[in-house]
Amino acid sequence: MKTKEEFINNELIPQYNIPKQNYTPKEKILLNEIRENLVDLAISSGENFLIDEEKLLNDIKIFLFNRLREENQNTKVTNEYLDNLSSKLLRDIIGYGKIDSLLQDDELEEIMIIGINKPVYVYHRKYGMMKTNIKYTNEQELTELIDSMARQINRRIDKESPILDGRLSDGSRINATIPPVSADGPSLTIRKFKKDPLTIIDLINSKTISLELAAFLWICFDGLGVKSANAIISGGTSSGKTTTLNAISSFINPKERIITIEDTLELQIPQEHVIRMETRPANVENKGELTMNDLVKNSLRQRPDRIIVGEVRAEEAITLFTALNTGHSGFGTLHSNSARETITRLTTNPMSVPKIMIQAIDFIIMQKRIYTSTGVSYRRISEVAEVVGSEDGVIQLNKIFEWNPETDRIDNVSITSRTLTQIANLSGQSLYEINKEIENRELVLKHMISHNLHTENDVKGILELYYANPQKVLNRIILNR
Ligand SMILES: Nc1ncnc2c1ncn2[C@@H]1O[C@H](COP(=O)(O)OP(=O)(O)O)[C@@H](O)[C@H]1O
Ligand SMILES: [Mg+2]
Repeated sequence: MKTKEEFINNELIPQYNIPKQNYTPKEKILLNEIRENLVDLAISSGENFLIDEEKLLNDIKIFLFNRLREENQNTKVTNEYLDNLSSKLLRDIIGYGKIDSLLQDDELEEIMIIGINKPVYVYHRKYGMMKTNIKYTNEQELTELIDSMARQINRRIDKESPILDGRLSDGSRINATIPPVSADGPSLTIRKFKKDPLTIIDLINSKTISLELAAFLWICFDGLGVKSANAIISGGTSSGKTTTLNAISSFINPKERIITIEDTLELQIPQEHVIRMETRPANVENKGELTMNDLVKNSLRQRPDRIIVGEVRAEEAITLFTALNTGHSGFGTLHSNSARETITRLTTNPMSVPKIMIQAIDFIIMQKRIYTSTGVSYRRISEVAEVVGSEDGVIQLNKIFEWNPETDRIDNVSITSRTLTQIANLSGQSLYEINKEIENRELVLKHMISHNLHTENDVKGILELYYANPQKVLNRIILNR
């Protein structure tokens, strides 16, 4: 990992430098030999040539070991050298060339190639937009990279269909364009998949959500076995909707049966009982398309407790709302800039959900990405509103939490919550008891924060324990203080 000083210099846009791949002349020969052998291997394994990285790495190691032993009878080849060289060679062979090390860096959010003879840009999680020392100097090299990505996902990009949108096998989302749509040569944008998803504890630590709001949502989404609330997470592009959806999904009671439906698989829901579905574009003969709506419809026959729709955009909205109106719970993200606009978008073309159905939503959670003058951005849940009914055809919203930009706090701005009242009524408890339970859950979350229990597995483990035996968990936390 590079230090901060290595990243930042005095330029307006900080520099991200990757070390040049240096091979000795002998290593270059070895690399070529391995490549040739690999072609043989590809031919002999027929059409379904799928690379097993681990096996390949091992093969390379054995190959190198033998070759280097032949050549250096007297000098000893260290294991460390073998390991390093093998993985370097492996990345060179199956990786993505110049930008491969960018794809390996989990601290990068995005990789942006804007054409030839221009630096490749990256968006760094800590330092924001950065310029790299990588450049593509000829169009062919860049086209080859895009082609190889297209082939990997069984798609193609050419003059007739010059836009490619898809997902690489590591989960990263790619969008590529070639001339004539992109005038200055091919462009490629890679939204990288974060290998360790941000958890609810990470989001509390980074102040995207407050401890109080997290505990409140936990009880609402759990519903104490009587009413598990649903929610739409709304916001602009890259505001962190999917990330928040993923993090709050850890609150779902482990007893629920969850079905997720997405255009490209992004969600990493920690629960065991999850069926993941992905839409499919039509093939070259224009057949076999499976839309979001097809999958949401089908999910209703799979007896789900909760349906999670990655991004609600079109006609699937009505199907989803039909599900919500018939006693299923759901989550979804939606692109919009305010709670009001969320309703407008849902009720107008192309989603066209009848207003009467909208009342099935419990929460609209608004998420914002705030940009600062230094180029670094941060994300906040800016508002949580409850849908409380409809008056004269206008949907009524009740704001419960609101982010205050001056204090950078998410304030509780409402006296009552419809969902909490419903949970109290249906479970036969008083609101006082419900609030007590929210405090208990705050304690659990606080404990995780102070003990740095923040990974996906940590969170999953503790929430499962809490669901199984809340009192035991609370006793342990209190004893530990
Ligand atoms: N609260 C957050 N704090 C830090 N980084 C975040 C946060 N939310 C999202 N990100 C990062 O921002 C990028 C876009 O997030 P994503 O959830 O996919 O946005 P959206 O679904 O709104 O387009 C991802 O790389 C993600 O890791
Ligand atoms: Mg998203």
